[in-house]
Amino acid sequence: MEWTREKRYLPYSKWNAEELLDLQAEAANSDYQMRYHLRPISGLINDPNGFSYFNNEYHVFYQSYPFGAVHGLKSWVHFKSNDLVHWTNLGLAVKPDTKTDSHGAYSGSAKEINGKLFLIYTGNHRDQNWIRTPYQISAWMDKNGKVEDKKVLFKNPDNITEHFRDPQILEKDGNYYAILGAQDKAQKHGHIDVWKSSDLENWEELGFLNFSDEEMGYMIECPNLVQVDGHPTLIFCPQGLDKSIADYQNIYPNMYVTGSKIDFEQCQLTNPSKLQNFDDGFDVYATQAFNMPDGTAYAISWIGLPDTTYPTDKENWANCLSQVKKLSFKDGKLLQQPVDAIKTLRRNEENVDGQTIKENTTGQYELKIKIKPNQAGTLYLAANNDLSQNIALKFDTKQGQLILDRSKAGKVSVSYGETRQIALEGNSELDLDIFVDHSVIEVFVNNGEHVMTGRFFTNPDCQRIIFDHEIDYTGKFWNMESTM
Ligand code: FRU
Repeated sequence: MEWTREKRYLPYSKWNAEELLDLQAEAANSDYQMRYHLRPISGLINDPNGFSYFNNEYHVFYQSYPFGAVHGLKSWVHFKSNDLVHWTNLGLAVKPDTKTDSHGAYSGSAKEINGKLFLIYTGNHRDQNWIRTPYQISAWMDKNGKVEDKKVLFKNPDNITEHFRDPQILEKDGNYYAILGAQDKAQKHGHIDVWKSSDLENWEELGFLNFSDEEMGYMIECPNLVQVDGHPTLIFCPQGLDKSIADYQNIYPNMYVTGSKIDFEQCQLTNPSKLQNFDDGFDVYATQAFNMPDGTAYAISWIGLPDTTYPTDKENWANCLSQVKKLSFKDGKLLQQPVDAIKTLRRNEENVDGQTIKENTTGQYELKIKIKPNQAGTLYLAANNDLSQNIALKFDTKQGQLILDRSKAGKVSVSYGETRQIALEGNSELDLDIFVDHSVIEVFVNNGEHVMTGRFFTNPDCQRIIFDHEIDYTGKFWNMESTM
């Protein structure tokens, strides 16, 4: 079947229920499907949206195109949770059902305001000539999950192109602010645009946020500001960023800067750090983070990238979300850690030792190991007998280096490299908390100083975990219970 433009933007009502059930079954039954990560019910998912705390529960939505593994007509699908690990699917929440979001309810954010959840997102509209107008739209969700009262708030001002999207709602000193990704008309560079409102209805533009002296490529997507232990932290996705400004290998990076103070009125992040990759692996994009009422910062990412195909496309589904990561700041470093409740999924705890950690796994586990200093070797996961298939962690605890290598893990995005590498302290113990969920791996390094995330597609029966030689380490292994 060919994915014509017409087909991708066909209204949801024109698809029949049976087709959707088939697609849902295909996604659910895949050997590569995630079982304890938020995954597509059918079709393609991308950015997390509206990650928030409301009515004493956590909420997250994701961008969804339910009818295939392509970026078609997008909507928001809603999940809620009591612990950030077990999620209940509440179904389609923001539909592309008005003129101003006719070609997609694109990304946005949410915040509890006066007993309701305020949503703000980009309505993607195209006219007969395929000219795009992005509308920034608000809506309100009540405690029963009903979304209503859609209202257009503002459009792109004259100096900004049609690339103007992904508003994040923020509140400071009794005013509301929204930050959005934008491209200026004059130079076609990427920016973060700041808007202000006192009543959530009348909005004025304050200008581009000053957070770096460098040029941010041709567009910034999904800007997100969160306070991490008192450090304003700006997470964003620059597209077309020059690699001399910040090194990255993914097609588009998901980066962050931290500062000492955020001043929306002056459009200024004070003392910005240099740009750093939020994740040191292959597939993290569009991370959203928010602060709980007590200040705790949680983040969740899309595991997937724009303009990238994956092997499950031929099964008509694609991508997933990361596990939720708790953010903190220690010794000048941003740390990302699994939330405590992930431990409730652990089953059959085992101490592991020896060169072979497991001859066979279910593909759904956590492996937490401490590798002693002054050793170099390779840990193969998802491996077969002759190791011709595997995803590998190559470590050197003398020089201080860790490489995630997926060159033997099925074909994904080879043109952007098959290894990712981080530098570590030399002569030190290496702490790895590894989460595997069928075709996704998340490696938390040294208690969250780095996270390396990636999809991999070895044959589903490749389930060995083995070192290349005897290694001095201690570790534990758990099977992980399914949540999806
Ligand atoms: C990022 C993005 C956003 C947009 C959304 C559409 O992945 O391109 O900028 O709002 O996806 O699905």
